[in-house]
Amino acid sequence: MAFNRIGIIGGTGLTRLEGPHITQSHDINTVLGTPSSAVQEGTWQGKPVLFMARHGHPHAVPPHKVNYRANLLALQETGAEAIIAVNAVGGIHADMGAGAIVIPDQLVDLTWGRESTFFDGAYKPLEHIDFTDPFDGTLRKALLAAAKDIALDVLDFGVVGVTQGPRLETTAEINHMERIGCDLVGMTSMPEAVLARELGIPYASICLVVNPAAGRSDAEITMEDIQRVLDGGMGQVRDLIAAVLPRL
Ligand code: HPA
Repeated sequence: MAFNRIGIIGGTGLTRLEGPHITQSHDINTVLGTPSSAVQEGTWQGKPVLFMARHGHPHAVPPHKVNYRANLLALQETGAEAIIAVNAVGGIHADMGAGAIVIPDQLVDLTWGRESTFFDGAYKPLEHIDFTDPFDGTLRKALLAAAKDIALDVLDFGVVGVTQGPRLETTAEINHMERIGCDLVGMTSMPEAVLARELGIPYASICLVVNPAAGRSDAEITMEDIQRVLDGGMGQVRDLIAAVLPRL
């Protein structure tokens, strides 16, 4: 693989990059609006990277209000040739407890009302793209190999169910999601993943499980508990990104 520049989209708990040496910050306005944050350009592990904070910095934009189209256009404009997204998620699958790191391979879109295509007949003419495998296989393999390099346990399967939020789910909703095959629940993989596909940019995700999904533990889901897992887990996510960059 030889991607010249890697886009990294940081989610909750990863609003700025500490690893790379940042050389420039690009404030970009796109024809489809303003992105959540500036694009930070730099190098990490000798690799050119472009970092975008999905929810802004400081963290402010809720999942359903993110201008995903502007974010993706800004990354394309600054030269991203592949994208690694980081997502904090809830765990549904029994093996995906708090702290687990998952490289998902599928998704189910349960969001509504979001601007979820570039091919809307206004910005670009209608086109129906293939989305059979929403996450890029080559990037996934590189992430799994990088995890092995640093002896980090990651799970190499997972269906992310993407909900509208910002509220968390009911137990019945999670039961329903489990029945339709979801292993994880998050709020931001869609439309991000499909917009990357529409632009032809390979895209994969690192999911950090920050809480058991609703009804999957006796305890109430609190932001304090989530923060604790984020504090512990994002360091590992950073290590994984640092390990994968030389492979891309
Ligand atoms: N549900 C949806 N999104 C999430 C969750 C959750 O339980 N945890 C983190 N993001």
